[in-house]
Amino acid sequence: MSRFSLSAGSRRLLTGALVLLSLALPRVGSSQDEVARQRPTARSEGDRFVDTLLAKMTLEEKIGQMSQIALNSPEGPKRDERILKGEVGSFLFVRDPKEIDRLQHLAVEKSRLHIPLLFGFDVVHGYRTVYPVPLALAASWDPATAERAQRMAAREASSVGIRWTFAPMVDIARDPRWGRIMEGAGEDPFLGSRMAEAQVRGFQGSTLSDPGSILACVKHFAGYGAAAGGRDYDSSDISDEQLQNVYLPPFHAAINAGAGSIMSAYMDLNGVPATGNRWLLHDVLRKDWGFQGLVVSDWDSVPSLTTHGFASGPEDAAVRAVNAGVDMEMTSTTFRTYLADAVKKKLVAQSTIDDAVRSILLAKYKLGLFKNPYVPLERSQKELVSDEQRSTARAIATRTAVLLRNQNSLLPLKKDLHSIALIGPLIDSQPDIMGSWSLGAHPQDTVTVEEGLKRYLASSGTKLLATKGVEIERQQPSIFDDQFPSPKPTLTTDEAKQAEFNHAIDLVKQADVSMLILGEAQTMSGERASRSSLTLPGRQEQLLEAAVATGKPIVLVLVNGRPLNITWASEHVPAILDVWYPGTEAGDAIAELLFGEAVPGGKLPVTWPRSVGQVPIYYGRNLTQIPNDPDTRYWDGSGAPLYPFGYGMSYTTFSLGVVETSAKSVPSGGSVDVFIDVQNTGTVTGDEVVQLYTHQRSGSASRPVRELKGFRRITLKPGERQTVTLKLDTRELGFWSSQTRRWAIEAGVFDLWVGTDSNATQHATLEVTPQR
Ligand code: NOJ
Repeated sequence: MSRFSLSAGSRRLLTGALVLLSLALPRVGSSQDEVARQRPTARSEGDRFVDTLLAKMTLEEKIGQMSQIALNSPEGPKRDERILKGEVGSFLFVRDPKEIDRLQHLAVEKSRLHIPLLFGFDVVHGYRTVYPVPLALAASWDPATAERAQRMAAREASSVGIRWTFAPMVDIARDPRWGRIMEGAGEDPFLGSRMAEAQVRGFQGSTLSDPGSILACVKHFAGYGAAAGGRDYDSSDISDEQLQNVYLPPFHAAINAGAGSIMSAYMDLNGVPATGNRWLLHDVLRKDWGFQGLVVSDWDSVPSLTTHGFASGPEDAAVRAVNAGVDMEMTSTTFRTYLADAVKKKLVAQSTIDDAVRSILLAKYKLGLFKNPYVPLERSQKELVSDEQRSTARAIATRTAVLLRNQNSLLPLKKDLHSIALIGPLIDSQPDIMGSWSLGAHPQDTVTVEEGLKRYLASSGTKLLATKGVEIERQQPSIFDDQFPSPKPTLTTDEAKQAEFNHAIDLVKQADVSMLILGEAQTMSGERASRSSLTLPGRQEQLLEAAVATGKPIVLVLVNGRPLNITWASEHVPAILDVWYPGTEAGDAIAELLFGEAVPGGKLPVTWPRSVGQVPIYYGRNLTQIPNDPDTRYWDGSGAPLYPFGYGMSYTTFSLGVVETSAKSVPSGGSVDVFIDVQNTGTVTGDEVVQLYTHQRSGSASRPVRELKGFRRITLKPGERQTVTLKLDTRELGFWSSQTRRWAIEAGVFDLWVGTDSNATQHATLEVTPQR
């Protein structure tokens, strides 16, 4: 049941004063464009071009367009033959510009219909230059930062001929055990939607035909982030209410921002595999949202329909995927093997095939591939890891870090220190600090933490005493091992391990201050990298505790793709800076942050638990019995998080005035401005993120205790004051109710809070009245 359609049978009449306002207006974020897309429009030049081409194609050629070959699959070596016969529409994982150009020449010059190929790749947070992981981009709480990162990534990827990325991942994730939480924007649908739109804008630019633009692919439609137990690929059971109000909105926002493609998810959603789910792929996506782009399956997710016990075999899988709305099959070959016969047997309508091919050809047309299919080699030579790429990556890595603790202003570090100890298994690792999905990167481009600090301290008198202390215990095997083979441990005996541990603690004792760079290796977050615990892997916690026991000042720098269990550290380590996986420029960015050249201003995009037993934990829960006493939730521990959603400190301080609104009441469909004064009360320039939360006091269903509905990141000089205005559109207050089974803005009283995290205390109320 989508936001815009309702099952009449399940509608119930409500009694009392509750007024339901029907959805006469498009939702917030629904631009004129969306309205236009939903209306039948005059056929464009692209449509006419595609129709002419379609009329010349054989059934086999059409099915060829619906097939994507992965370079590293058994089909990879047969690529030339497939191209010549018109049996392939797209490639995945080809990234040598010369090879892309060669294959494109083959397709355009030697295949019967001269249709160019579409080269896809997971450009998730950078291509050759790696930007902070998407969870970190969300921690910037600045859509412009996410847009900039993806624009730069698009420029690099397109320079080698890659014109399609499998990003952004917009799956809401509320369980940090799930390895792919690092690939999305965290737990919140509002923040997630803004980040989704921004990334689409970054990838696709103002027009797809710009040679620097790439086609975005929103994934994984839908509900993958709710995998049971955080176990990757496991089924998701999501109530209609949660699906409509939490999991679908970022997808809808991305589509409204013009995302040209979408990927079906792997798992069962409420018992129906997403890749065979016609309700999702057709009713919601095409009918309700008016999506006209291209739907691609996930890797092997079509034959997997049989594994799920849904399809009876590969032919049935191909039939059910295409009939559900999948246009292109990624990697596996069931479409190519079975669809022609299935059409002849009338299991699939010819028009279904034509619709699928139309969306593929139209994507190629919009990308300008029919006019400019080839890859000018000089572009990649100029673009890859250029100075501009590096400096942007460094600036962005400083904007995504979150300062979690800073007792006695230990950070930023003084510049006249005699010596600093740099300890931890990740200090000299190049792949690890890039994070997962860095498949186009060359690890040797990465600035390690040790290198960055050495460079920063080169002209100072400060000595850097560096050693690992412990080695990270890597899980084996990783799906990316062929790209980034995990380094073999060098400390093999218990004696050698203990000697290295002791050596690190000796350095801590000698140094004025120590930085412990601890966290997860690259392959510990990402796909197939879920965890059943959230502790610092291996002996890192012991190392940290031993370092703190020396009584010397310790700074913990966390490298991670998910919240980790740092409950002990949060009470004993004076300074904690979360840098996530910062990417290619990690070392330089970390040095700038630690010494105050850059001031941390990021905020958590995800609630940080005290222990793994608390998950899933998120701020937008509903109010239930004894809501304000977290001690009623468990007898053996607190129910409160360690750090709330939206939390993060700065090297400066801010004070907030009182909240004011442009009106005390507003008719449904209207909007109000919410104002608050913010002043930098400290001594350095810094950023604050002003956040607006709302709560509907009563209605047809219980509503979350708080919901983020607006935010803005601002920079203030010492002493500077600014009035921040956040627009609150009442359409953001609407929700899909499981009682009425429809989306509506319900009239009534709303609480508003404005502050600097989800515990914001500045309060006002707003009455929403029925539409006039
Ligand atoms: C499987 C992943 O689930 C998906 O996100 C990715 O885009 C494809 N593999 C291609 O790498």
